[in-house]
Amino acid sequence: MAKASVSPHGNKDLKKGFGKKGEKKVIKASRPVRADWKEGVKKKQVGVSDMTLLTKITNEAINENLMKRWQNAEIYANATLGSYRGKNLLEMPPHVFAIAESAYHHMSSYKENQCVIISGESGAGKTEAAKRIMQYIAAVSGGGQNSSIQEIKEMVLATNPLLESFGCAKTLRNNNSSRHGKYLEIQFNAQGEPVGAVITNYLLEKNRVVGQIENERNFHVFYQLTKAAPPEYQEAYGLQGPESFLYTSRSGCLDVEGINDVTEYGETIKAMDIVGLQKHEQDEIFKMLAVVLWLGNLLFVEDDSGNAAISDPDVANFIAYLLEVDNESLSKALTNRVMETQRGGRRGSVYEVPLNVTQATSVRDALAKAVYERLFEWIVTRVNLSLQSRGGDQYVIGVLDIYGFEIFDDNSFEQLCINYVNEKLQQIFIELTLKAEQEEYVREQIQWTPIQFFNNKIVCDLIEEKRPPGIFAALNDACATAHADPGAADNSFVQRLGFLSSNAHFESRGSKFLIRHYAGEVLYNVEGMTDKNRDSLLKDLLNLAAASSNSFVSQTLFPERIDPNSKKRPPTAGDKIKLSCNALVTKLMQCHPSYIRTIKPNDNRSSSEFNEKRVLHQVQYLGLCENIRVRRAGYAYRTTFEKFVERFYLLCPSTGYAGEYIWHGDPVSGALEILKHNNIPQDEWQMGTSKVFIRHPETIFALENLRDKYWHNMATRIQRAWRSYVRYKHECARKIQRFWRQNKYNIGYLQAREYGHELLGGRKERRRFSLLSMRKFTGDYLDVRSGTGLATMIRNALTLKGGEEVVFSMRGSTLVPRAMRSSIPSPRTLVLTNQGLHVLVTTKNGKMINMTDEKILSLNVISGVSTSTLRDDWIVLHVDNSPDGDTILSCIFKTELITHMAQQTGGRLRVNVDPQIQYKKKGGKSVTMKFVKNEKVPRDDVYKSHVVNVPSGEPANSASFPPCATKPRLTSTSSRKPAARKPAASAARSAPRPKPAASAAASRPLPPIQNNARAAPPPPPPAPATPSLPQFKAIYPFQSEESGEIAFEKDDILEIAEKDENGWWLARKDGKEGWVPSNYLEEYVAPKPTPAPPPPPARRAAPPPPPAPAASTTTKPAAAPVPRSNISPPSVSAPGSTTAPIPVMPGIAAPTANGVPPWKAQLEARKAAAAGNGGSAPTPAPRPVSSSAGAPVPAARRAPPAPGPKPAVPVKPSTMAKPAIPARPGAAPTPAPRAPPRPSSASPPPSNAAASLADAIRARRQQQPQTHESDDEW
Ligand SMILES: Nc1ncnc2c1ncn2[C@@H]1O[C@H](COP(=O)(O)OP(=O)(O)OP(=O)(O)O)[C@@H](O)[C@H]1O
Ligand SMILES: [Mg+2]
Repeated sequence: MAKASVSPHGNKDLKKGFGKKGEKKVIKASRPVRADWKEGVKKKQVGVSDMTLLTKITNEAINENLMKRWQNAEIYANATLGSYRGKNLLEMPPHVFAIAESAYHHMSSYKENQCVIISGESGAGKTEAAKRIMQYIAAVSGGGQNSSIQEIKEMVLATNPLLESFGCAKTLRNNNSSRHGKYLEIQFNAQGEPVGAVITNYLLEKNRVVGQIENERNFHVFYQLTKAAPPEYQEAYGLQGPESFLYTSRSGCLDVEGINDVTEYGETIKAMDIVGLQKHEQDEIFKMLAVVLWLGNLLFVEDDSGNAAISDPDVANFIAYLLEVDNESLSKALTNRVMETQRGGRRGSVYEVPLNVTQATSVRDALAKAVYERLFEWIVTRVNLSLQSRGGDQYVIGVLDIYGFEIFDDNSFEQLCINYVNEKLQQIFIELTLKAEQEEYVREQIQWTPIQFFNNKIVCDLIEEKRPPGIFAALNDACATAHADPGAADNSFVQRLGFLSSNAHFESRGSKFLIRHYAGEVLYNVEGMTDKNRDSLLKDLLNLAAASSNSFVSQTLFPERIDPNSKKRPPTAGDKIKLSCNALVTKLMQCHPSYIRTIKPNDNRSSSEFNEKRVLHQVQYLGLCENIRVRRAGYAYRTTFEKFVERFYLLCPSTGYAGEYIWHGDPVSGALEILKHNNIPQDEWQMGTSKVFIRHPETIFALENLRDKYWHNMATRIQRAWRSYVRYKHECARKIQRFWRQNKYNIGYLQAREYGHELLGGRKERRRFSLLSMRKFTGDYLDVRSGTGLATMIRNALTLKGGEEVVFSMRGSTLVPRAMRSSIPSPRTLVLTNQGLHVLVTTKNGKMINMTDEKILSLNVISGVSTSTLRDDWIVLHVDNSPDGDTILSCIFKTELITHMAQQTGGRLRVNVDPQIQYKKKGGKSVTMKFVKNEKVPRDDVYKSHVVNVPSGEPANSASFPPCATKPRLTSTSSRKPAARKPAASAARSAPRPKPAASAAASRPLPPIQNNARAAPPPPPPAPATPSLPQFKAIYPFQSEESGEIAFEKDDILEIAEKDENGWWLARKDGKEGWVPSNYLEEYVAPKPTPAPPPPPARRAAPPPPPAPAASTTTKPAAAPVPRSNISPPSVSAPGSTTAPIPVMPGIAAPTANGVPPWKAQLEARKAAAAGNGGSAPTPAPRPVSSSAGAPVPAARRAPPAPGPKPAVPVKPSTMAKPAIPARPGAAPTPAPRAPPRPSSASPPPSNAAASLADAIRARRQQQPQTHESDDEW
């Protein structure tokens, strides 16, 4: 059965692609990127799917096109539901799904109620189309896991098999012909989810219950029940096969090809369950069906007096049993009629008239029809109850599936009603697609050439008009005047029809009349029409039903009670159909309509036959030709200016901005702005008086696409912003975590430091380099806990008790007595544990290095610690009642040692800071140790004969700089350039450096150093006139194309702006600045006399950091000891040792036999190897060890050495991290010193801490004005 789907505005079979042939689309891309509707899938097609593209618009051309597409299976192509989802009508081949999608989209987007009007002849496919629409909407309308919405969907779909069983029957034209009209409205909430539904039923063909023409069937449900009823129904309701009942068997058709009644019965029961019909309700339904079936088997015979008598009383009794009425009453109601005389409008006497067989049969049929019709209506009401809206319904999509136009050999009142409804639907179609549309063009002053069409209003008027009276009015009049005798009434009707003969679409032919419908001429038989129109149930039957003890019969099916005094004429069937049909039209007119026009290809229910004549006829009467003409010349879309601007304002910058509606002009110019901004060609739109008209659907789809893209872009933007926000949040969280972890690790050490300074209470002068940064008190500097090499040696020498753990280790010295002479300092290794202090001595026996635990001082016996007020490193450990006397130590980290001792003793330790210290020598003799300021002492202090000479230190209340920031890693030199070029920075470099204390004072409120007896730094050399920067001469050529580096030739002169200790210097040449390898250069002294040479590179040497523990292992400790400058060389053997103590200071410097540090020796060796391999070409070398004591030392000058990686940027003071620890006590009241939490033993190895300390100091040095002091001062 061919089907032509029609678009919301009657656009038949729209095709994806262009509008008119050859028309060039000039909608140009603008912001955002325009959607291209050509992108759709273009399957090669036969004929045209959009019939507005036909070259010639004639009925024949349309017919031919339909035939071509039918033969190539273009019309019945199986479509997957999902492929139509979200697509517009042009994107996909025409299909019912496309119409459903369009309606659903229109409802969701434009917030308008929708209706889909499906029309066509009986058997053309209306019901199938309606089912597909419901299926589509159920699939796409969301609801997800919402059980209530899913339930509604299931119920809506279940109404199809249920109502088809009760309302469809096999006819000659259609095996599943709808014998009633159905308008199903699905209610949606604001989100487009179905929340309910309402079914409106139109005029069931109840006559079919009591008789069908040959080869047709009764309603399907009778065959389902009689064939498949379960035994309990068979027994209770006396059910047998369909052949046993006259109502189902008389037409001689029990089975239908393609319909399995037994299976269908199961489907019906299932549908009943889904829509919520309870078991007792189902029982009642099937009981009533049994009543109808048995009524058909109730036959009458003529009794002696010629009146009707029931032939088989058992049948009557069984029916009475089923109806739960009295046997007698039933028999009486069927064979007698109660008459009432009326005189002058007054009620007269009542008497009973016996009926003849024909009349009794008619009464029986009337009862059967009434029971079935009322049962059907109740089912619809009951289904509506289940489908009642769950709330929040805002819009509806209505689907109209009504009985199709039909012409039989013998057409009666039913056909008149059916064809009248179809006539009305055609009227709506014409009204909206042809008449109203053209009228609107005129009203809106759109340029328009009118198109002629047949308006079937004249036929509608012929049937329904009151004045002059139409057919229904004539019928009503006939019924009113001759209500007693059906024959007389029919005659009266024929006479009245005579008045209609002036209508060109009407012809009276004796006992028949002809109407020229839009779909063809139909000859109607007058006989029985008035009776059918009257449609009044006999009072006797109503009284019988009311007397039933079954409330389903007396209350539910027959609730009305006869008012004997009422003079109101009950509405006739004609009135009812007219009323409901006009209500339907009103409802449809309020919705945005979509049309599906089904075309029947043949009358033989064949899926392969295309009856050209038959199709051409339908094409003609459907008015497709006119419709296509209007579509072609007309406008596919129109809407008010306000709505247009409201929908598309975002597509134009002057009407929309950032998602906010800001257009303040009038809607007409707003709409114009949008159209013009989007380059919609002038002939593609017209402005009416209140609406904007868009000619082709492609244009509106393109605008819609742009709008979608806009929202999509906005959504993407929001998503991106959200993702960045989440990423940023995580980054911040990680930063906080990292900081916290670092802080957690450092806090113990820094707290220990604070504690130490609290112990000293700002009473002891400070060493300059102690102020460089807040050094962490990490304790185990010799890595005794876990180190290798020397640390292992120390561990082996230590005599530790169980549970004894190292908390501090450091090189230092102790006073050792000499026979007959005063004591002298001697180097020692100091190891503090949680139980005591171990003083270890290292001795050399020949080539053997020996270490012994010389002295163990339990923490329990140390009662106090004394230290001087000056900056010296001496401390005295007072030991009560010890024959050996007190212990005198020198240790550069004396504050830390005191701190750890105080920590380990729980703060019990007494800490004295005095100008002089009294202590006890061996044997108990009390001695005073004096401290004298002596600026001539080059560094640290000098002990001699109980007197310590020490230069001035920094004031006792000096605070350290905040902790150094970690050295940032920068890979590109470009970021360094600005810093290097900073005039301030270079000025700082070349200017004489102020004293560090002064610089500290500049940033922090510290008192200026007074009475500093220490020698002032030498005056800076007078600044050279020119050049301002030190000059160096290239001794090798250096080729480089790397950004940030500069190439030079041998003998080129370069100015050095900055020297980095890792071997890369920032140089300037010919106005360019970049990094150069320092070992390619040698200092250049210009021939002309200069006041002072630039400072030698060695002056910028970094302080030697503590080497990694591994370095100790590679160092031969005994090979060449490098004595610390502040420790005098040993001259006296330690007690108990036969060999002299030697100063081995792991972490400070690693000596080698020939005085060259091992890193230097390795570097030299690598360079020599590189020179040997690469000839004169420099090869990349690993980054020079930055802990080297100075600038890179060029290797043997035979071959250029490989430059190391470029240096990292030193931290500028301004970028330094804020101190993690608050300012030292002073400003705030100092709490009594308490033992701070101890750093966990799981801390990283101290060598790392020492290395980072060295790094920090080195970095600090980069920012501080350089002093002339030696780096290893501290
Ligand atoms: N799209 C289709 N593809 C294939 N067969 C179809 C299609 N539409 C309908 N049919 C066939 O045509 C038969 C009649 O269709 P349907 O019952 O929908 O007609 P109808 O227009 O509702 O007729 P009526 O007015 O009598 O109710 C269906 O039972 C089915 O066999
Ligand atoms: Mg149908």
